[in-house]
Amino acid sequence: MKIFVQCNYKLLDCGEFEKLEQIDDIIIRRPALQAEWKRKLGNDIWQQYQAKFDYTQNEWTTIPEINLPYFVCNNLTFELRLSSNRQIGIFPEQLTNWQWLKKVISKANRPLNILNGFAYTGASTLFASAEETTLTHVDASSSSVNWAKQNCRLSNLENTNIRWIVDDIISFLTREVKRGKVYDGIILDPPAFGRGKKSSIWKIGRDLPKLMKLVDKLLSNDPEFVILSCHDKDYGKRELRDELTKLQSLKTSRIETLDLTIKSKTGNDLPAGKCARWKK
Ligand SMILES: C[S@@+](CC[C@H](N)C(=O)[O-])C[C@H]1O[C@@H](n2cnc3c(N)ncnc32)[C@H](O)[C@@H]1O
Repeated sequence: MKIFVQCNYKLLDCGEFEKLEQIDDIIIRRPALQAEWKRKLGNDIWQQYQAKFDYTQNEWTTIPEINLPYFVCNNLTFELRLSSNRQIGIFPEQLTNWQWLKKVISKANRPLNILNGFAYTGASTLFASAEETTLTHVDASSSSVNWAKQNCRLSNLENTNIRWIVDDIISFLTREVKRGKVYDGIILDPPAFGRGKKSSIWKIGRDLPKLMKLVDKLLSNDPEFVILSCHDKDYGKRELRDELTKLQSLKTSRIETLDLTIKSKTGNDLPAGKCARWKK
């Protein structure tokens, strides 16, 4: 079964520590520190942006009265915002995981209880939503969770069974273990560094082992999938695979690893993280 995901997003080019992206007719230029190479497209194209994050000033500059389009992917709609942390509300490198999730969930053909941790604006949550599926969306930032709820409304999925949780992932999952909750599918995309609730700090090197121990306790007797992705240079495909290999609840070792890369038809591709994923 092939499931295609089509979006109104294009990576036009990347290089010299920046990326140039197009969503509908709006061109956005922002930092991409991993893009150490020369650009493929000329300066004339790179100057055609309507919004640019200037990292020397640490702020966005835009043409007057810019109207940001929605990011639309299949039947899902996401609001874009020019955030002060240079993000715009979507991580297109996750497209391969969105496609994979849809396929695995539809093949399972049974009600699933799914957890999405570090869930941000809800792209993986909404891609995982299916009839009879229960989703738990966890993020420490209340504004990200509100943004995800807005994306859920825009995508006409208000009737989907989603628990919206604003909490630190470790605190929340520790409570879920005590409550005896279990999940058939778990999606995790931890940042290298992040802020939990009440000034707690997430550090991947320190906290990922703790998180994975909780994950092991939370997987059901018949889990369907686990996705672990990240953008930290210390976590390559081998390290992420090792984290999944340690999970006792995954009885088989069907783990696949991949580079999360945003492809460009006109310019350079952009490597944007690594991923390990397991399915039954
Ligand atoms: C890289 S983004 C995740 C992107 C998302 N998976 C997607 O594809 O759209 C990281 C998210 O982790 C959240 N976060 C950081 N530290 C956290 C913590 N300790 N507990 C829960 N969420 C946290 C941030 O608020 C942010 O929304």
